[in-house]
Amino acid sequence: MTLTVRDIRGMKSEGRRITAVTAYDYPSAKLADAAGIDLILVGDSLGTVVQGLATTLPVTMEQMLYHTGMVVRAVNNALVMADMPFMSYQQSVAVALKNAGKFLARGAAAVKLEGGSAAAVERVAALVEAGIPVMGHIGLTPQSVHAMGGYRVQGKETAEAERILSEARALEQAGVFSLLLEGIPEKLARQISQAVAVPTVGIGAGVHCDGQILVWHDLLGLGDGNYPKFVKPYAHLSRTIKKALRTYADEVRGGAFPGPEQTYH
Ligand code: KIV
Repeated sequence: MTLTVRDIRGMKSEGRRITAVTAYDYPSAKLADAAGIDLILVGDSLGTVVQGLATTLPVTMEQMLYHTGMVVRAVNNALVMADMPFMSYQQSVAVALKNAGKFLARGAAAVKLEGGSAAAVERVAALVEAGIPVMGHIGLTPQSVHAMGGYRVQGKETAEAERILSEARALEQAGVFSLLLEGIPEKLARQISQAVAVPTVGIGAGVHCDGQILVWHDLLGLGDGNYPKFVKPYAHLSRTIKKALRTYADEVRGGAFPGPEQTYH
């Protein structure tokens, strides 16, 4: 049975932690779903981990819709959520509504957007009013990389922590079904998780969130081995894949592949 935003919200009161991961294509989404992951995010992180870009800023609506379609087709049980890319909601409520609607038409059950400013809260309220479930995203918000002066932990100072806490309250008030907390100290994440009734899902926000999310390539060790502090690679697939490819190349060069088993007679 497919999980709904109501189920995800209910997990907090039931004391069940939410498991979440990003996915960008059919085979990875199928694996995440089969593994029993609750929430699959088609993240705009695809700009960095799939496209090899330095930031998520150039990711377009067309690209996000293309990847959302692949993920939606693979998933039977998890909640599929799409990330609204840079400049797909910042301009106006009307633009946000138009673009969020495209994700739901593509089969996503919810969208996520970054920020807790008055403008972001206004966008969230309008989407929720239109029947579009929204996850908020506060703390380190990668689309604001230039405004933040780089990818740095947010909310270390009291005034900043208070601002992030009040953003969490405002987003809850606007109707988010959940909040993603990225790159903040665990103490602040705990404070927010206790202050709001909706579940918090953390990345680089410590253990006191109501759930956790990791980027697919980080979780599976598909990178170059230089992972940020908050990442725990649960496999080292880069190594496994390189080894398989080298063996294949050796066998082709040496004439061992294809063997009799792989040959039509
Ligand atoms: O785009 C993304 O992958 C994200 C992560 C913080 C989960 O938003």
